[in-house]
Amino acid sequence: MTMKRRILSIVGARPNFMKVAPIARALGAYADHLEHAICHTGQHYDYAMSQAFFEDLDLPAPAFYLGVGSGSHAEQTARIMLAFEPVCREWGPDLVIVVGDVNSTVACTLTAVKLGIETAHVEAGLRSFDRTMPEEINRIATDAICHWHFCTEHSGVENLRREGVPSERVFFVGNTMIDSLLAAMPRIEQCPIVEELGLERGGYAVVTLHRPSNVDDRHQLTMLLDVLTELAEQMPVVFPIHPRTRHMIEHYRLQPHAERARKLHLLEPQRYVHFMALVRSAALVLTDSGGIQEETTVLGVPCITLRTTTERPVTLECGTNVLVPPERERISAAIERVLQNPRQDRCIPPLWDGHAAERIARIIAEQILGVSP
Ligand code: UD1
Repeated sequence: MTMKRRILSIVGARPNFMKVAPIARALGAYADHLEHAICHTGQHYDYAMSQAFFEDLDLPAPAFYLGVGSGSHAEQTARIMLAFEPVCREWGPDLVIVVGDVNSTVACTLTAVKLGIETAHVEAGLRSFDRTMPEEINRIATDAICHWHFCTEHSGVENLRREGVPSERVFFVGNTMIDSLLAAMPRIEQCPIVEELGLERGGYAVVTLHRPSNVDDRHQLTMLLDVLTELAEQMPVVFPIHPRTRHMIEHYRLQPHAERARKLHLLEPQRYVHFMALVRSAALVLTDSGGIQEETTVLGVPCITLRTTTERPVTLECGTNVLVPPERERISAAIERVLQNPRQDRCIPPLWDGHAAERIARIIAEQILGVSP
């Protein structure tokens, strides 16, 4: 009997879980030849930021948990590398899969590649062209050294071509985050959270904020809370607060400020199905997240992204996303515009069809590792 080839997928932070879950499922079709395990770095560790996602997404429990926790970028990245190296040496994966653009992505890529282990990046090639974003550095560094690149949109393919990545290592496969969304849709549709919060479908806004550029600066964060307070006079505003943002609100003592508005619902971070149910029935989403730009595009919900750049241009070209520089007047004007005139001619980006992970599994098994189902 020949030994099964081993694949290790990395998750670390909240946006990673929904990208890996469908890949884990799709690799199951090759279980006679491939052994797949998950390594959780522990970059996110709160129940609501991590464990709840394993449950909602049917993600198999991690075989390896590195428990690195929070820290500065150097501390976190270094701790992940130190803890991940012995896992690679002992378990001996033939391929490491990394997703997205978080510190866990770049740390595990660097570790695996230097041990001579082939590495595949899912969501490769996205570029905001803003090197002050930590994620942009993670994306560039990961793509520069990994072996295989799986792209969610054409811009990713094009960026990699421009950076000199050989085309036979780049695959346009679609979006595994959207695979998760479509797979969970029956549960999202049945989730009663909108009614439980006393909201009317189509009659409220959802907000998420966590980018350092928006929440780490006192003036910026105060201004954003002012805008939300103002919007809450027009319609209920649901704001699940990321731990980073909560810490900053407490640090700057802005709680009374945020709690003033009666229709501003400040919530804990929501689990996946609850959050997507809230987004699906919203009139409008305001966010600085990467993934939510994509999810709103598929759900057809207007999305105002409070940033000056996006690494996901397809959501602007054919989705419901608009970029709005996070300045007070511009945000207020954009809210007016989007509520009065939602985009009518939107479409779903190519290959965002719920089958991206199956394409990835087939390419990994048959082309990269040379096995059949
Ligand atoms: C990380 C990713 C970001 C992603 C985001 C999604 C990097 C550089 N950033 O940002 O790309 O969009 O995740 O959420 O990888 N904290 C908790 N509990 C947790 C996790 C974090 O309390 O479970 C607090 C800690 O105080 C920590 C802070 O939140 O210092 C920020 O966490 P960190 O993982 O450093 O970055 P995020 O802002 O979450």
